[in-house]
Order: sequence, then structure tokens, then C-alpha cells
Amino acid sequence: LQACGGGSDAAPAPAPSPAPAPAPAPAPAPAQFKLNFNAVAKSLDDVVSVPPGYTASVLYRLGDPIAAGVAAYLNDGTDDPATYDRRAGDHHDGMTFFGADGSGKWSSTAADRGLLVMNHEAITPLFLHPTGQTLVNQVFNGSTLTDAQRSVAGEVQREFYLHGVSVIEVSRNGSSWSYKQDSSFNRRVHTLTEMEFGGPAAKTDYLKTRFSTDGSRTRGTVNNCANGTTPWGTYLTCEENWAGYFRRMTAVDNPKRSAKELASFSRYGVSGAGREFWATVNPDTTDNLYGRWNTELLGASAADDYRNGANTYGWVVEIDPFNPASTPKKRTALGRMGHEGACLGPVVAGKPLVWYMGDDSRNEYIYKFVSAKAWDPADVGGGIAAGDKYMDDGKLYVARFNADGTGVWLQLALGQNNITSGYAAYAFADAADVVVNARLAADAAGATKMDRPEWAAVNPKTGEVYVTLTNTNSSARPIGSTDAANPRFYNDPKGAAQTAQKGNPNGHIVRFADAGGDPAATTFNWDVYLFGARSTAAADVNVSGLVADNDFSSPDGMWFSQAAPGLLWLETDDGAYTDVTNCMLLAALPGKVGDGAARTLTNVDGATTRQQATFVGKAPGTEGLRRFLVGPKDCEITGIAESGDGKALFVNIQHPGETTPAASIGDPTKFGSHWPQGGSARPRSATVVITKDDGGLIGL
Ligand code: FEO
Ligand code: CA
Ligand code: CA
Ligand code: CA
Repeated sequence: LQACGGGSDAAPAPAPSPAPAPAPAPAPAPAQFKLNFNAVAKSLDDVVSVPPGYTASVLYRLGDPIAAGVAAYLNDGTDDPATYDRRAGDHHDGMTFFGADGSGKWSSTAADRGLLVMNHEAITPLFLHPTGQTLVNQVFNGSTLTDAQRSVAGEVQREFYLHGVSVIEVSRNGSSWSYKQDSSFNRRVHTLTEMEFGGPAAKTDYLKTRFSTDGSRTRGTVNNCANGTTPWGTYLTCEENWAGYFRRMTAVDNPKRSAKELASFSRYGVSGAGREFWATVNPDTTDNLYGRWNTELLGASAADDYRNGANTYGWVVEIDPFNPASTPKKRTALGRMGHEGACLGPVVAGKPLVWYMGDDSRNEYIYKFVSAKAWDPADVGGGIAAGDKYMDDGKLYVARFNADGTGVWLQLALGQNNITSGYAAYAFADAADVVVNARLAADAAGATKMDRPEWAAVNPKTGEVYVTLTNTNSSARPIGSTDAANPRFYNDPKGAAQTAQKGNPNGHIVRFADAGGDPAATTFNWDVYLFGARSTAAADVNVSGLVADNDFSSPDGMWFSQAAPGLLWLETDDGAYTDVTNCMLLAALPGKVGDGAARTLTNVDGATTRQQATFVGKAPGTEGLRRFLVGPKDCEITGIAESGDGKALFVNIQHPGETTPAASIGDPTKFGSHWPQGGSARPRSATVVITKDDGGLIGL
């Protein structure tokens, strides 16, 4: 299984779970291995660069057809909107490879055939329609577009389908990989797909809408960022920046709302016209295809409108890729937030299961969910019903990082850690209220505000948990607000103009070990594994001693290989170092918590200096961290998975050319990228598959 953790040899785990299905044993990685490739140089070229001896091939691009009879994508904005529920979505993101055996069942070690399941986080609207989005009645505040109306329903229909998740069957033929256009496993889950709720918020007032008057169901998933897995063989897709899609004009809606509702909207950022203005298509349909994106209070009761629409997003969603007819389920016990991913921890029969989760926004938190039920390997292949067993009942925790290198998991439950009806900022009513407003509960509990928690990854060799903290700025964390776990404040001047970038623009990676190696423990030890920086930066900025072959900025995607336990892949989503290089993928061989030393950094903001004590992991050197891939212009590198034998690495190239100015759509010479088609083509997000020319393990 392409789990974040897994546990095949997670220490100190006792018996590993048995393989779910017979499959040929993969070629084992050597017990001791080292990075074995020439570092790829930083680059601003519009290509995917990999080391000599490796080949990167394009596998699955925006718009590619995934059903028989669907025409090839024209990539000029004129494809029939009705076909987009059978085409690849946009902005490929988190991804898992589920190996399939000869009978089409999940096999964690299958190497030549499987289901590749991936998120499509968002869209670059400019390239999706003939000349970008058609907007009328635009309203500006200065130069900022604050409202508009969508006048072409077909454009909105395309965008509904281009978000969500793809399930595609892929296979190896010789050394090359392809997807099967007419596989019966192929499926798109998107913003119109009907879903159920499980867990404490299901069938409560918080989730009642005109679509589901008992609060048991909703339509769709959106802004699916990172991913996760389960030990029974399902996929988890995580809803991140969902709040921005909803229309809620505060001038008209705020006066109709309770103080608690206003506190919740404010904490989650639910206000404004909606980033794609989906709610504005007029006329609406009888089932509110468009109006359901308006989360204002409009009718007599929650059964008459979508006043609770925003509560139906912000969840971890379970999908069974091996059952194309199954209904996805939103797992409310894992809390509502800007979910980045949900990384499965060590899997041990007879012990609870654990998922580690980042909430990606400035000054948000790191969470974990521990199941009430102990893992029973007989549930492998149990699909959504197994999810009901393990993911609807358990304990949700949030992390507090202490200055002395220890940490505490604070439980988010009514009556615990100040989460009561007497909490001044928000009077919690019940268990559903706690998960719907998990951010407010975490505030009450006194969790540590982090520099944007993105992916979590669990080292299968140690069971230790790594979390990328992508970056922050000086308004969210001024020099006086650093702490031991978020310790840097500096200026990273960018480009010829030396434009100031203050705060922690390059990000870092924190790691922790739950006490006693027990994922259900409520205490941990931590250090900072790695700090992003330019290799040329001062010593208290380039704290990890990065050099030209491994310097990077803004870590985001991160995942441990399962075929080569101990090998870590690190991806960047950067805007700070982009004067020098496009985003990248690095390979790493990390040690363990405490392998470095305590250190006091001197932070500088103009004439102000401030000392900050922290704990720094051992400097990696180029033996422990090396750049493996650089992507095309204006992209993010995100999403990563491997075939069951580790000999094919799947990587997503998200939104090349994303910042192309809207006015340039008629002039291809002004596009920010033409990758992957080249020439004058519009750029497309795509999955690439990387193989070693000698057929060996990737990176080793
Ligand atoms: Fe969608 Fe936090 O990256
Ligand atoms: Ca991300
Ligand atoms: Ca990011
Ligand atoms: Ca992105």
C-alpha cells in the first residue's frame, strides 16, 4: 500500500499486517542504501529535468479522456462541457497507486498494474475556455475584482467537473506506462458527486440543507489537496481551501446570523462572492446546481436553502477506488479544517489506527485522529463499511509544541481542554459542534500555531512523523512571535530588485516521535528536521547547511517510499526562490528526532534582533538530501506515488504557466508555459512517470 506510514517494519511495531492479497514479492531494497544519482541543477527552463539514467514520461494530462468514445482533448477551450465528467481534471495533486492483482483486487505489492487515484485541487480558468471565464456585471474595489456574474453555464459545468478526484487504471508494458482509456475502474469524483456523511456531525442540524434535509448527504468535493490511505485499501481525499468557493455577502447575511455562526464563518474565512462566482449562474436549476454555492440564509429554514452549505465541506473524504459504484463518505470525526492530507501511521494488528493531519493556513495546527477500534487485518478489502468501523469513532487531538523539545496531544472533545459551553470565544454545544468547528476547539485547547502545516509523512523505519511547514510571512508571524517549533524570522531578498520577503518565506519541516513509539500516545518529542533556504543565505537562515545541489524553498508534498523504507521524497510549492529556480523534487535519507542539537538562532528584522532557541536536526549534506527533479515554469511539484516494486515513480506537475495574465490568452507567445505539449500549446497539469533506464529502484 502506498500509505504515508504503512508499518511493514515500523518500529517498535510487533507483527505487521499480512499482505491483503497474494502477489509477486517485489525486489527488496537493500537494507543499507544511499542516494545514487547526480543532482539536478536548479533551472528556469520549461521542461521536466531528471538525472542522467532516468526517463520522465507524461502519463495523464488535463482533459485526457478516461472513457470509450470520448474524443482527445483539443486544449483550445472548445471541448464539449458534457464530456468533462470523463476527462482528467485540472491541477493534479495528492496521489496514491493501488496495485491490482489479476482478479482486479487490491494488492499492496503489485508492480505492473494498478489504479492510480489522484486529486484535482483547483483550476487555471484562463486555459479552460476559449478566452478564459466569461464574466459580466463585474464589481471592482480598486483593482480587485470583488463580484461578477457567470453568464455561460457550460463554462461553469466544465469547472464543476475539473475539480475532484480521478481513478484511472494504469499498467506497465515493457518499460513504459500508460492508462487504459476504457477501463471499467476509471471514474471521476467531482463537485456534483453525491456523498454521505459519517461520524459525529452526520445527520445533525449543522449539515442540513435543501439537498439533504436530514443532514445525511451532500454533493461533491472541492479543493482536494493532499491525500491519504487506509489499511483496508481505500483512498482519502482532503478538502483544503473550500471556503473560498462559497458566496456569502456579509452585508446581507451577517445581520441574519447568530453570534456563534458569525464566529464560525470568521474563523474559517467564509465570506465574499466565491472565487469562481459559481453561485451566480441565472437562472438556477430546480436542484440548485449553482445556488447551492450560495451559503447565505435565504429561506425560512435550513431545509429551504444552503445556509449550512459551507459546513458540508472541509472534511476528509473516503473513496473506494475498487468499487466504482460506491458512494464516497465524508469522515467528520477527523474534524473540519483546511485539510491538507491525512497520513496513516504505523499499522499494527490489535492496536488503534492513527492519521496525522495538517491544517494548511497561516498559524493553523497539526492534528491526529486515533481510532476507537483496534485494527483487524480481516477488514482488508472492506471498503466504505470498514471506514464506518475505524473512522467514525475515535479521538481527535491537536498538537502543542513545548519550548523544551517535548509536546502534548490535546484532545478535542466537549468538556475537555476548555472546550465547553463556557468558552468565551465560542460556546460549544455538543460533539458535532466540536468537529464542525475543530479550529475553534483547537484554539480553546491552546494548540501551537504553525507556519502553514502541509503534508505529513511517517518514516516506516522509525514510526516518526514529519510535517512540512511550507512558509509564512511577517504579518502572520512577526519577529516577536517566533517560537521553538517555528523559530525563524529573516529577510529573503528576491531577484535583481532584491524585493524583501520577510518572515519565514522558505519554510521548514518539523518531526516528532510519539512517546514509546505508540501512535495513540498523548506526548511526543520533536525537533526541526530541515530548514528551507538559499544556499547563499546567512548561517542563521540556512540553518541546515544547504548547498547548490540541495537547496530549496517552501516544502509541501512529502512521502516516504514503501519499497525502499527510509527514502523520503520532498516536493516544493514555492514562490520565494522562483527568481532562481522552478519548483522541484528532492530525495532524502533522514535520521531521527534528536540526531542534531539544541541551537539558538539570531533573527533579524531591520534594526531589530531577537534570539530564538530551537532544536535542529543533523545537517543532511548531499548524502542525505539531493535534488532529483526540477519542473517546468510556474508549476508546483506535488503528489507522489510508486509502483509496488518502487521501480516507477509517479509525480504530478500542477498548474504550469498558472500566472499567465488573462489579457494574454490571445497571444501564445505570452503564455507562462507550454508544457507538456510545447510549441504554442496551452499548458496542462499532468502526471509524469519516472523510470530508471536500467530498471532499478528510483533514486538509489
Ligand atoms: Fe493545497 Fe496546502 O496545498
Ligand atoms: Ca499542498
Ligand atoms: Ca502549498
Ligand atoms: Ca498549487
